[in-house]
Amino acid sequence: MLDWTTPDARYFLRLCAPHTLLYTEMVTSGAVCRGDAERHLRFHPAEHPVAVQFGGSEPEALARCAAEAERYGYDEVNLNVGCPSDRVQSGRFGACLMAEPELVASCVAAMRAASSLPVTVKTRIGIDHQDDYSFLRRLVDAARDAGCTSFIIHARKAWLSGLSPKENREIPPLDYSRVYRLKQDYPQLEIVINGGVRSLDEIREHLRHVDGVMIGREAYGNPYALAQWDAAVFGRDDPLPSRHELVRRYLPYIEQRLARGARLASMTRHILGLFQGLPGARGWRRYLSEHAPRAGAGVEVVEAALAQVPEQAAEVDAAG
Ligand SMILES: Cc1cc2nc3c(=O)[nH]c(=O)nc-3n(C[C@H](O)[C@H](O)[C@H](O)COP(=O)(O)O)c2cc1C
Repeated sequence: MLDWTTPDARYFLRLCAPHTLLYTEMVTSGAVCRGDAERHLRFHPAEHPVAVQFGGSEPEALARCAAEAERYGYDEVNLNVGCPSDRVQSGRFGACLMAEPELVASCVAAMRAASSLPVTVKTRIGIDHQDDYSFLRRLVDAARDAGCTSFIIHARKAWLSGLSPKENREIPPLDYSRVYRLKQDYPQLEIVINGGVRSLDEIREHLRHVDGVMIGREAYGNPYALAQWDAAVFGRDDPLPSRHELVRRYLPYIEQRLARGARLASMTRHILGLFQGLPGARGWRRYLSEHAPRAGAGVEVVEAALAQVPEQAAEVDAAG
C-alpha cells in the first residue's frame, strides 16, 4: 500500500506476524528502469517472506523489474491490475489493464521469462460497466495461459473516473461470491480474496472458499490484530508477545535507522494503532504524533510514549 507498507512498516509488521506474506508498496516500472531502483527495492532481510508489487504495462520494462526483484531477493513478484488512480491510468497500468487481457498476458510472460520468482496478479472484479463475470474470466484466462497461477482479487470493481482512489476502496460494493465462484471454476489456481476483511471470523469463513486472504487497511491500522490472526492461522512456537514487547523489539531497528539519518516519525507513524481500544491508546498516539516529528527525536520518545500505556492492561488483553 503506497506510503503505508514501507520497509519500516514491514519490519514492524514482521515482528508482529512471523508467517504472513507481506507486500511492498506498488513500485512503477519507470521508477526501477529510469529512477533510483535501490531506493524503491531495498528491504531488510527480516522482512521475508515479502512480495514486491510492480505497476506498469510495458513487458520489457516489467521484465527488467522482475529480474531486479530476483536479484534483490524478493519471494514473489506481483503485477498491479487493480489500482484505479488517475496518475496510474495516464501511465496505462493498474485497473485499466483489466480491459487489455492480452497485454496483461504479455507482461506476465515477460516477467516469468526474466525471473524464476512466482509472478502473481492483483486485480478487481471489474471496471466501470465492464463488470460481468466473463470480463473477469477473460483476464484470468489470459494471465493463466501466460503462466500466472496465483491471483489476488479485490472483491469490488473500480470506477476509472469519478471516484477518488479512497472512494474506490469504499463505494463499489464488495462481492465475495464472485471470488468464491472463481475459485470453484479454477480449482487449480490459487485464489486470494481481498477487501473489507477485519476479523478472524471473517478470515476463517473466507478460507472455507478460497486459498488465502489479503488484508490491507485493518492489518496496517491495527497491527496487533495482525499478530493475533497470524498466530491463530499459522500457529507459533513462542507465546504471542505483548504489544509493549513488540515495541521493545522494534527499538534496535529504530536506532539503526536513526543512525543512518532516518527520521523517527517515519518509523513511529506505522505503530500509532498498536494499542487501539486499550486504556492509554490515546496518550500513546498523541505523545508519538507530537514528539516524534521533532528534530533530534530518538528512541527515548518511543519509551516515553510506551509509559503512557499501562502494561498490565495490554497484557491481559493479549492473553485473552
Ligand atoms: C493507503 C493505501 C494505499 C494502497 N496502495 C496500494 C498499492 O500500492 N497497490 C495495491 O495493489 N493496492 C493498494 N491499496 C489497496 C489495498 O491493497 C487493498 O486492495 C484495499 O485497501 C482493500 O483491502 P482492505 O479492505 O483489506 O484494505 C492501497 C490501499 C490504501 C488504503
